[in-house]
Amino acid sequence: MSQYLTENISKITTNTLQRMRDQGERIAVLTAYDYSIAALLDMAKIDVILVGDSAANVMAGYKTTLPITLDEMIYHASSVVRAVKRALVVVDMPFGTYQGNSKIALNSAIRIMKESGADAIKLEGGAEVVESVDRILSAGIPVMGHLGLTPQSINKFGTYAVRATTDDEAQVLLENAKLLDQHGCFALVLEKIPAALAKTVTESIHIPTIGIGAGGATSGQVLVFHDMAGVTQQFSPRFLRRYMNLSEEIVGAVEHYIDDVKSANFPNESEQY
Ligand code: KIV
Repeated sequence: MSQYLTENISKITTNTLQRMRDQGERIAVLTAYDYSIAALLDMAKIDVILVGDSAANVMAGYKTTLPITLDEMIYHASSVVRAVKRALVVVDMPFGTYQGNSKIALNSAIRIMKESGADAIKLEGGAEVVESVDRILSAGIPVMGHLGLTPQSINKFGTYAVRATTDDEAQVLLENAKLLDQHGCFALVLEKIPAALAKTVTESIHIPTIGIGAGGATSGQVLVFHDMAGVTQQFSPRFLRRYMNLSEEIVGAVEHYIDDVKSANFPNESEQY
Protein backbone atom coordinates (compact mmCIF):
# COMPACT_ATOMS: atom_id res chain seq x y z
CA MET A 1 0.00 0.00 0.00
CA SER A 2 1.32 3.45 -0.85
CA GLN A 3 2.79 5.55 1.92
CA TYR A 4 0.21 8.18 1.05
CA LEU A 5 -2.62 5.87 2.10
CA THR A 6 -1.07 4.72 5.36
CA GLU A 7 0.63 7.80 6.78
CA ASN A 8 -1.10 10.05 9.25
CA ILE A 9 -2.11 13.00 7.12
CA SER A 10 -2.39 16.35 8.85
CA LYS A 11 -4.59 18.84 7.11
CA ILE A 12 -3.20 22.21 6.08
CA THR A 13 -5.08 25.13 7.65
CA THR A 14 -4.91 28.89 7.31
CA ASN A 15 -2.73 28.85 10.45
CA THR A 16 -0.30 26.50 8.69
CA LEU A 17 0.03 29.00 5.84
CA GLN A 18 0.69 31.88 8.24
CA ARG A 19 3.34 29.78 9.98
CA MET A 20 4.95 28.92 6.65
CA ARG A 21 5.02 32.59 5.69
CA ASP A 22 6.48 33.60 9.07
CA GLN A 23 9.18 30.91 8.80
CA GLY A 24 10.00 31.78 5.18
CA GLU A 25 8.72 28.49 3.74
CA ARG A 26 7.22 29.11 0.29
CA ILE A 27 3.59 28.10 -0.31
CA ALA A 28 2.75 26.08 -3.46
CA VAL A 29 -0.74 26.51 -4.90
CA LEU A 30 -2.37 24.99 -8.00
CA THR A 31 -5.90 25.01 -9.34
CA ALA A 32 -8.11 21.93 -9.65
CA TYR A 33 -11.73 21.60 -10.67
CA ASP A 34 -12.37 17.86 -10.48
CA TYR A 35 -11.89 14.80 -8.27
CA SER A 36 -9.19 12.98 -10.27
CA ILE A 37 -6.76 15.87 -10.72
CA ALA A 38 -7.32 17.09 -7.15
CA ALA A 39 -6.43 13.60 -5.83
CA LEU A 40 -3.13 13.70 -7.77
CA LEU A 41 -2.22 17.20 -6.59
CA ASP A 42 -2.97 16.21 -3.00
CA MET A 43 -0.89 13.03 -3.38
CA ALA A 44 2.01 15.22 -4.55
CA LYS A 45 1.54 17.31 -1.37
CA ILE A 46 0.49 20.61 -2.85
CA ASP A 47 -0.20 23.07 -0.01
CA VAL A 48 -3.33 24.73 -1.35
CA ILE A 49 -5.80 23.75 -4.08
CA LEU A 50 -7.67 26.66 -5.57
CA VAL A 51 -10.99 25.82 -7.20
CA GLY A 52 -10.61 28.88 -9.40
CA ASP A 53 -13.33 30.48 -11.45
CA SER A 54 -10.80 29.91 -14.25
CA ALA A 55 -12.92 26.73 -14.49
CA ALA A 56 -15.09 28.96 -16.71
CA ASN A 57 -12.21 29.09 -19.24
CA VAL A 58 -10.53 25.74 -18.70
CA MET A 59 -13.50 23.45 -18.07
CA ALA A 60 -16.32 25.21 -19.89
CA GLY A 61 -14.52 27.04 -22.71
CA TYR A 62 -15.87 30.51 -21.95
CA LYS A 63 -13.72 33.49 -23.02
CA THR A 64 -13.93 35.14 -19.58
CA THR A 65 -14.57 33.97 -16.02
CA LEU A 66 -17.84 35.91 -15.79
CA PRO A 67 -20.41 33.30 -16.90
CA ILE A 68 -19.67 30.58 -14.33
CA THR A 69 -22.44 30.25 -11.74
CA LEU A 70 -22.46 29.61 -8.01
CA ASP A 71 -24.04 26.19 -8.57
CA GLU A 72 -21.29 25.29 -11.07
CA MET A 73 -18.53 26.43 -8.68
CA ILE A 74 -20.12 24.36 -5.90
CA TYR A 75 -20.19 21.32 -8.21
CA HIS A 76 -16.46 21.73 -9.01
CA ALA A 77 -15.58 22.46 -5.38
CA SER A 78 -17.44 19.47 -3.94
CA SER A 79 -15.73 17.19 -6.49
CA VAL A 80 -12.33 18.51 -5.37
CA VAL A 81 -13.15 18.30 -1.66
CA ARG A 82 -14.10 14.61 -1.98
CA ALA A 83 -10.55 13.90 -3.24
CA VAL A 84 -8.49 15.98 -0.84
CA LYS A 85 -7.12 14.83 2.51
CA ARG A 86 -4.28 17.27 3.11
CA ALA A 87 -4.37 20.48 1.07
CA LEU A 88 -6.33 23.57 2.05
CA VAL A 89 -9.18 23.92 -0.46
CA VAL A 90 -10.07 27.49 -1.43
CA VAL A 91 -13.01 28.27 -3.71
CA ASP A 92 -13.45 31.34 -5.89
CA MET A 93 -16.70 33.24 -5.40
CA PRO A 94 -17.98 33.73 -8.95
CA PHE A 95 -18.79 37.07 -10.53
CA GLY A 96 -22.07 38.57 -9.30
CA THR A 97 -22.27 36.62 -6.04
CA TYR A 98 -20.56 39.11 -3.70
CA GLN A 99 -20.09 42.52 -5.31
CA GLY A 100 -22.23 45.39 -4.08
CA ASN A 101 -24.25 43.58 -1.42
CA SER A 102 -22.60 42.06 1.63
CA LYS A 103 -25.71 40.06 2.58
CA ILE A 104 -25.74 38.33 -0.81
CA ALA A 105 -21.97 37.82 -0.40
CA LEU A 106 -22.47 36.11 2.96
CA ASN A 107 -25.24 33.87 1.59
CA SER A 108 -23.05 32.90 -1.40
CA ALA A 109 -20.07 32.12 0.85
CA ILE A 110 -22.25 30.06 3.20
CA ARG A 111 -23.61 28.05 0.25
CA ILE A 112 -20.06 27.32 -0.94
CA MET A 113 -18.89 26.19 2.51
CA LYS A 114 -22.04 24.20 3.36
CA GLU A 115 -22.60 22.50 0.02
CA SER A 116 -18.98 21.82 -1.00
CA GLY A 117 -17.21 21.29 2.32
CA ALA A 118 -14.37 23.61 1.24
CA ASP A 119 -12.06 25.32 3.74
CA ALA A 120 -12.15 28.94 2.54
CA ILE A 121 -13.32 31.29 -0.20
CA LYS A 122 -11.52 33.79 -2.42
CA LEU A 123 -12.88 37.02 -3.85
CA GLU A 124 -11.46 39.77 -6.06
CA GLY A 125 -11.09 43.44 -5.17
CA GLY A 126 -9.99 45.89 -2.46
CA ALA A 127 -11.88 48.65 -0.62
CA GLU A 128 -15.03 48.04 -2.68
CA VAL A 129 -15.44 44.49 -1.29
CA VAL A 130 -14.32 45.10 2.30
CA GLU A 131 -17.90 45.18 3.63
CA SER A 132 -18.46 41.74 2.09
CA VAL A 133 -15.13 40.51 3.51
CA ASP A 134 -16.19 41.65 7.00
CA ARG A 135 -19.57 39.98 6.77
CA ILE A 136 -18.19 36.69 5.45
CA LEU A 137 -15.49 36.65 8.14
CA SER A 138 -18.16 37.31 10.80
CA ALA A 139 -19.61 33.89 9.93
CA GLY A 140 -16.22 32.27 10.55
CA ILE A 141 -15.43 31.74 6.88
CA PRO A 142 -11.76 32.37 5.98
CA VAL A 143 -11.30 34.82 3.09
CA MET A 144 -8.45 35.01 0.58
CA GLY A 145 -8.11 38.34 -1.25
CA HIS A 146 -7.09 38.89 -4.88
CA LEU A 147 -5.57 42.13 -6.24
CA GLY A 148 -3.79 43.22 -9.41
CA LEU A 149 -5.22 41.60 -12.51
CA THR A 150 -8.71 40.67 -11.37
CA PRO A 151 -10.24 38.72 -14.29
CA GLN A 152 -13.82 39.38 -13.18
CA SER A 153 -13.23 43.10 -14.00
CA ILE A 154 -11.98 42.42 -17.54
CA ASN A 155 -14.80 44.48 -19.06
CA LYS A 156 -13.74 47.52 -17.05
CA PHE A 157 -10.09 47.31 -18.18
CA GLY A 158 -10.50 45.68 -21.60
CA THR A 159 -7.09 43.98 -21.40
CA TYR A 160 -5.20 41.30 -19.46
CA ALA A 161 -2.02 43.47 -19.44
CA VAL A 162 0.18 43.93 -16.35
CA ARG A 163 -1.61 45.97 -13.65
CA ALA A 164 -0.46 48.73 -11.26
CA THR A 165 2.38 49.96 -13.46
CA THR A 166 2.00 53.66 -12.52
CA ASP A 167 2.94 55.07 -9.10
CA ASP A 168 -0.68 56.02 -8.37
CA GLU A 169 -2.00 52.55 -9.25
CA ALA A 170 0.76 50.92 -7.20
CA GLN A 171 -0.14 53.10 -4.21
CA VAL A 172 -3.83 52.15 -4.46
CA LEU A 173 -2.92 48.45 -4.70
CA LEU A 174 -0.64 48.70 -1.65
CA GLU A 175 -3.37 50.43 0.36
CA ASN A 176 -5.92 47.81 -0.67
CA ALA A 177 -3.51 45.05 0.35
CA LYS A 178 -3.08 46.64 3.79
CA LEU A 179 -6.86 47.01 4.10
CA LEU A 180 -7.49 43.32 3.30
CA ASP A 181 -4.78 42.36 5.79
CA GLN A 182 -6.25 44.60 8.53
CA HIS A 183 -9.76 43.27 7.90
CA GLY A 184 -8.64 39.69 8.46
CA CYS A 185 -8.04 38.02 5.08
CA PHE A 186 -5.77 35.00 5.63
CA ALA A 187 -3.83 35.38 2.35
CA LEU A 188 -3.71 37.56 -0.72
CA VAL A 189 -3.31 36.62 -4.39
CA LEU A 190 -1.29 39.16 -6.40
CA GLU A 191 -1.85 38.64 -10.12
CA LYS A 192 0.28 40.09 -12.94
CA ILE A 193 1.85 43.10 -11.23
CA PRO A 194 5.48 44.31 -11.29
CA ALA A 195 7.76 42.10 -9.18
CA ALA A 196 9.07 45.12 -7.23
CA LEU A 197 5.54 46.09 -6.20
CA ALA A 198 4.72 42.52 -5.15
CA LYS A 199 7.85 42.55 -3.00
CA THR A 200 6.82 45.84 -1.36
CA VAL A 201 3.33 44.50 -0.68
CA THR A 202 4.71 41.24 0.73
CA GLU A 203 7.01 43.18 3.08
CA SER A 204 4.23 45.60 4.10
CA ILE A 205 1.56 43.15 5.22
CA HIS A 206 1.44 40.29 7.72
CA ILE A 207 -0.45 37.64 5.76
CA PRO A 208 1.03 35.43 3.01
CA THR A 209 1.00 36.76 -0.55
CA ILE A 210 0.51 34.25 -3.36
CA GLY A 211 1.82 35.48 -6.71
CA ILE A 212 0.94 34.67 -10.30
CA GLY A 213 3.02 36.76 -12.66
CA ALA A 214 4.17 38.80 -9.67
CA GLY A 215 7.83 37.75 -9.40
CA GLY A 216 9.73 35.70 -6.88
CA ALA A 217 9.41 37.67 -3.65
CA THR A 218 5.86 36.64 -2.74
CA SER A 219 5.21 34.09 0.03
CA GLY A 220 4.01 31.56 -2.51
CA GLN A 221 3.08 30.94 -6.13
CA VAL A 222 -0.10 29.83 -7.89
CA LEU A 223 -0.56 28.52 -11.42
CA VAL A 224 -3.52 27.09 -13.26
CA PHE A 225 -2.83 23.33 -13.35
CA HIS A 226 -3.92 22.95 -16.98
CA ASP A 227 -1.44 25.69 -18.00
CA MET A 228 1.57 24.32 -16.10
CA ALA A 229 0.83 20.78 -17.30
CA GLY A 230 0.54 21.92 -20.93
CA VAL A 231 -3.08 20.91 -21.43
CA THR A 232 -3.92 24.42 -22.60
CA GLN A 233 -1.86 25.28 -25.67
CA GLN A 234 -2.73 28.82 -26.78
CA PHE A 235 -2.08 30.55 -23.43
CA SER A 236 1.62 31.45 -23.12
CA PRO A 237 2.18 34.47 -20.88
CA ARG A 238 5.76 35.22 -19.81
CA PHE A 239 5.08 34.12 -16.21
CA LEU A 240 3.97 30.61 -17.17
CA ARG A 241 6.44 27.75 -16.75
CA ARG A 242 5.23 24.54 -18.43
CA TYR A 243 6.31 21.45 -16.48
CA MET A 244 5.05 18.99 -19.07
CA ASN A 245 3.37 18.84 -22.44
CA LEU A 246 0.28 16.86 -21.57
CA SER A 247 -1.65 17.92 -24.67
CA GLU A 248 0.98 16.23 -26.88
CA GLU A 249 0.88 13.09 -24.68
CA ILE A 250 -2.91 12.90 -24.80
CA VAL A 251 -3.20 13.50 -28.55
CA GLY A 252 -0.44 10.89 -29.15
CA ALA A 253 -2.17 8.31 -26.95
CA VAL A 254 -5.55 8.92 -28.58
CA GLU A 255 -4.04 8.60 -32.09
CA HIS A 256 -2.39 5.35 -31.00
CA TYR A 257 -5.73 4.03 -29.64
CA ILE A 258 -7.55 4.97 -32.86
CA ASP A 259 -4.92 3.12 -34.91
CA ASP A 260 -5.23 0.06 -32.67
CA VAL A 261 -9.03 0.00 -32.95
CA LYS A 262 -9.03 0.51 -36.72
CA SER A 263 -6.37 -2.16 -37.27
CA ALA A 264 -8.16 -4.60 -34.90
CA ASN A 265 -5.02 -4.61 -32.72
CA PHE A 266 -7.18 -3.72 -29.67
CA PRO A 267 -8.40 -5.67 -27.78
CA ASN A 268 -6.01 -8.61 -27.97
CA GLU A 269 -6.60 -12.06 -26.48
CA SER A 270 -5.55 -11.15 -22.96
CA GLU A 271 -7.83 -8.11 -22.98
CA GLN A 272 -11.04 -10.08 -23.37
CA TYR A 273 -13.18 -12.60 -21.40
O1 KIV B 1 -9.35 31.48 -11.09
C1 KIV B 1 -8.14 31.27 -10.91
O2 KIV B 1 -7.60 30.25 -11.36
C2 KIV B 1 -7.38 32.25 -10.17
C3 KIV B 1 -5.89 32.11 -10.14
C4 KIV B 1 -5.31 32.36 -11.46
C5 KIV B 1 -5.28 32.95 -9.09
O3 KIV B 1 -7.94 33.14 -9.61
